[in-house]
Order: sequence, then structure tokens, then C-alpha cells
Amino acid sequence: MKESGHTVLITGGATGIGFALAKQFHAAGNRVILVGRRAEALQQASVQLSGSPESCITAVADIADAQDRERLLREFPDINIIVNNAAVQYTKPFAEQTEAEIAHELDTNLSAPVLLTKLFLPQLLSKPDAAIINISSGLAVVPKETCALYCASKAALHSFSQVLRWQLENSSIRVFELMPPMVATPMSQGKGHAHLKISPDELAEEFWRNFKQNRFEIMGGKTKWLYWINRISATLGQRIMRKGL
Ligand SMILES: NC(=O)c1ccc[n+]([C@@H]2O[C@H](COP(=O)([O-])OP(=O)(O)OC[C@H]3O[C@@H](n4cnc5c(N)ncnc54)[C@H](OP(=O)(O)O)[C@@H]3O)[C@@H](O)[C@H]2O)c1
Repeated sequence: MKESGHTVLITGGATGIGFALAKQFHAAGNRVILVGRRAEALQQASVQLSGSPESCITAVADIADAQDRERLLREFPDINIIVNNAAVQYTKPFAEQTEAEIAHELDTNLSAPVLLTKLFLPQLLSKPDAAIINISSGLAVVPKETCALYCASKAALHSFSQVLRWQLENSSIRVFELMPPMVATPMSQGKGHAHLKISPDELAEEFWRNFKQNRFEIMGGKTKWLYWINRISATLGQRIMRKGL
């Protein structure tokens, strides 16, 4: 992919990994559109990206809401890259998750990125150079015990990304997947293992090196180790991951 001149929609772009990716794209000369539910968080993020006001736009939208997704499509006909980054995680036993929490987690992490991708597909196909970038997780490789549906949604997003890449390989759209390890963000806050976390900026730099070289499946940081350990011994992979690294 060329490095500049894109218009990039980033869901969950105000915080954590989404914001670090926004900084990378923006610094390289791309226009970024940051999407999230909280106007204040979006505003705080956008003031940290210097440059012309047109180079960073914010859009308050709930990606799990069909009308909000359609509004994004109507408002931004220039978008040629979408980054499906927004997600939520309920860290509790499945038996204790309410039906509303189950629906919220699956809608946000799986249905919303799939439906946003579907909605933007004709627009992306009309661009000479386009990309879909899905942010899954190392937990798509081996799950952990405390968050059943989060792991399931990320495994499904991983599979979806692989198949979509095959189906679109003769089109103008490239399909990337970033599989982060543990990253120090609001999502992982208070969940321990501080010494194992990398910073969002470190992950975004690794993404950028791979993005520039058209490496489509990007295992960030320790996800690479997990992948290979699991290839050698799935029993060992599960033993390491079950209680969470
Ligand atoms: N942190 C890690 O260790 C880690 C590891 C592997 C993978 N990941 C993945 O990396 C991605 C980013 O996570 P993060 O760690 O950076 O977490 P984060 O800081 O909590 O970011 C999540 C973002 O998603 C937005 N969001 C949530 N639900 C939304 C909705 N319905 N509509 C629009 N925006 C929504 C949030 O903004 P609002 O609340 O304002 O909407 C927030 O900005 C996620 O896909 C996550 O699963 C993270």
C-alpha cells in the first residue's frame, strides 16, 4: 500500500490502539476520521493531532447501530480505508453474563465490523486503492478462560478476515488483520500482567512497518510466539493461555 493520501475511518479511534493507529496514519499524510460514542474522548484525541482541521475529523457514532453506520457512509464518500478496531470485553464467567451483555459484546466485536464492511464494500471497490484493516487479537489463536465471547468474537473476526482476503484478492481492496498481544490501553487496565504489555504506539509502529510492505496478517509482539508455541504443542499453548498471560 502507498503510505499517504488515504482517507481512513478508524472505529474506536479516540483511545488505545485505535488512537495510536490514527497517529501513525495522520503523521504519514493521511486524513483520519475518528469514530466513537463519546464526543469528549474524540475531541481530546483530535486536539492531539496537529495539522489542518480537515486532516482529522471526528464522528460520534455507535457502530452497533445500523442508522449510525449508514450515516458514516453518507457523510464520508472519500473513505478508502476502514479500520475495524472498536470492541468491548466482558471479563466474567459466561454464566454470569446477561443476555444484554452477550448481545452487546457480539454486536460490537463481530456483527458491527462485518456489517460496516458490507456497507462500505461498494465504495471501497470503486477506489483504485483501498483496504480493510481488522483488529482481532492473539486470543483468536488461543483463547483464555475469563472471556468466552470476546475470544469467540475475535476468532470469528480472524476467520472472516482470512476468507475476505481470498475473496477480494482480485479487487482493489487489500484485507489486513492486526492481532495484538496484551497492550496497555483502557481495555486491559486493571487486568494485571503490566510487565507483559506493550504500548499502543509500539504496536502501531509494528503495524505500520508491515502495512507498508503489504504483509496482510500481522501478529503483533508476543502473538507471534503464541502462534508458534501453539503450532508445536496446542496443549502447551492452552496451558499458557487458559489463565491468561
Ligand atoms: N488492549 C489489549 O490488550 C488488546 C489485545 C488484543 C486485541 N485488542 C483489540 O484492540 C482493539 C482496540 O482496543 P483497545 O485495547 O485500544 O481498547 P479501548 O481503548 O477500550 O478502545 C476501544 C474503543 O472502541 C470504542 N467503542 C467501543 N464500542 C463502540 C461502539 N459501539 N461504537 C463505536 N465505538 C466504540 C471506544 O470508544 P467509546 O467508548 O467512546 O465508544 C474506544 O475508543 C479492540 O478490537 C480490542 O479487542 C486489544
